[in-house]
Amino acid sequence: MDIAEPLLAACRARFAAVDALLPPAAPPADGVRLDAATADGTQVTGVLQRHRLGPGDVSTLWSAADTWQLFPYFGDTGTEGLDLLLRALRGLLDGEKTGDDSACAVVWPSRDAEAIRAFLDHGLVPLGALGVRTAPPPPPDCDVEVVRRAGPDDFAVALELATATFDYTGLVAAPRRANTADLLAPALREALDAEEPAVWLAEDGGVVQAMAHCAWIDATAGSAAAELLPPGRWGYVNNVVTAPGERGGGFGRALMARVHQELRTGGATGTYLYYNPTNPLASVFWHRQGYRPLWTTWEVRPAGALR
Ligand SMILES: CC(C)(COP(=O)(O)OP(=O)(O)OC[C@H]1O[C@@H](n2cnc3c(N)ncnc32)[C@H](O)[C@@H]1OP(=O)(O)O)[C@@H](O)C(=O)NCCC(=O)NCCS
Repeated sequence: MDIAEPLLAACRARFAAVDALLPPAAPPADGVRLDAATADGTQVTGVLQRHRLGPGDVSTLWSAADTWQLFPYFGDTGTEGLDLLLRALRGLLDGEKTGDDSACAVVWPSRDAEAIRAFLDHGLVPLGALGVRTAPPPPPDCDVEVVRRAGPDDFAVALELATATFDYTGLVAAPRRANTADLLAPALREALDAEEPAVWLAEDGGVVQAMAHCAWIDATAGSAAAELLPPGRWGYVNNVVTAPGERGGGFGRALMARVHQELRTGGATGTYLYYNPTNPLASVFWHRQGYRPLWTTWEVRPAGALR
């Protein structure tokens, strides 16, 4: 979809000013266009997409089944410009049927404080964040010997742990899906069967206590990853979890010390992950592990609760 070139340029300038690590703002994809003008007559535009997921879609682990996603372009108009676009979205939703399993969502640079004002005023909450870590890993100060690569025989314990992540995030972020284990199983099996599995386990006395499921993502020109990350080969830290009774005992630190080493040795530009700022364990753990938010997903559920 075409938007005025000056509006895209102004959005790019906004991104560059708020966070040097952000790639340039992507041109808008197709969708319903929302237009508004500020008090001084500056044009702002949003593009709205609706994403509907079926019960077997893996994305339902973290997304509502029916999401209206807004892509705002408000240049240097700050809180006022974004407020106008969120008002326009509110107006549009008045004419829509929004069910219980629905959301409005905007993925936006975490450090844009003027935008945060508008998101909060409209009832959106920071439900997700993409955190990045670019510093080389420090030498481990914990016992990384307890960590090993997982293989196909570890499928049952790996699935149990992967599911335990969502038992916890179901309390502190997106509600847990009844079919969580079924949704997780195929990708986990594939990762464990891979020639170079990207799943690591921390053990204590032969008992698996923690897991990190990782992957490689290339942010190359034109790729989806390049809209979120600087160019390079990124280590993606997908699902990290310690068994419920063992949290706070150092398994997470030992596991990530080894994983960060392995990913750096494998040529990672940096590593990134998604976490929930509302998760009281992950939000502290990842920041102490050297991650900081680059993008925040602002959400309101159900969609009709947008103010
Ligand atoms: C986030 C998580 C993987 C961290 O693993 P962990 O084994 O608990 O991590 P560690 O014990 O190495 O470190 C946790 C830190 O919190 C502290 N802590 C204190 N009480 C704690 C508690 N009851 N539970 C967890 N951590 C606690 C630890 O002392 C430690 O601090 P430190 O850095 O000063 O050592 C784990 O808490 C977890 O599985 N959480 C639930 C699932 C989840 O949120 N996964 C991440 C999704 S992005």
